[in-house]
Amino acid sequence: MAASDDVRDNVKKYYGSRLESSCDLQTSAASCSLSCRPPPRSVTDALSQVHPEVTKRFFGCGLPFPAKLEGCRVLDLGSGSGRDSYAFSKLVGSSGHVTGIDMTEELITVSRQYVEYHQKKFGYEEPNVSFVQGYMEKLSEAGIESDSMDVLLSNCVVCLCPDKRSVLQQAYNVLKEGGELYFSDMYASKVVPDHMTARSSPVG
Ligand SMILES: C[S@@+](CC[C@H](N)C(=O)[O-])C[C@H]1O[C@@H](n2cnc3c(N)ncnc32)[C@H](O)[C@@H]1O
Repeated sequence: MAASDDVRDNVKKYYGSRLESSCDLQTSAASCSLSCRPPPRSVTDALSQVHPEVTKRFFGCGLPFPAKLEGCRVLDLGSGSGRDSYAFSKLVGSSGHVTGIDMTEELITVSRQYVEYHQKKFGYEEPNVSFVQGYMEKLSEAGIESDSMDVLLSNCVVCLCPDKRSVLQQAYNVLKEGGELYFSDMYASKVVPDHMTARSSPVG
């Protein structure tokens, strides 16, 4: 098995089977330790309306929410249980649309269970959010069309992808001209010692 497949399998096992909720995270590295500007009221309101079962499985590390999303077509890269996707679905309004893509079946299953709940909660005639199981490095294979998205968002996912160049190339390809990418992530603020960059044994 290629090293990148190995990484993906470990990530799937960790987020899909090992973690029941954000309390089970094995590191506090994802907690935002910097003092950030408080998010706009519209964002905190939208987040507060997301179903608790979805929020329980939030594994992100930041709040990559642009100020204006009304009417936008948004793609959430590595959407997990869908917390951010559902908050975006409130912020884009009924004329916008959100697609969440994630490679982990268990999380896609959780996210899909709450589409109707949020449609009703936000008072939309039709659902404006959908979830696709697939890889960020292969957006076209997952059915995401070129030049189709106004905004791409990703919360704590790019760091988990072995092939970051493909992620950025694919992101650029699906963004419309003038579209924007927002992401939050974890990074090392010092040179990482060799023993930590060596491949580790599978999680769990
Ligand atoms: C730290 S969690 C964050 C999930 C979500 N953004 C949130 O804030 O709750 C990382 C997620 O990225 C997904 N993921 C990791 N690598 C991926 C890839 N190459 N393609 C698609 N999803 C990926 C995992 O399945 C997992 O759901």
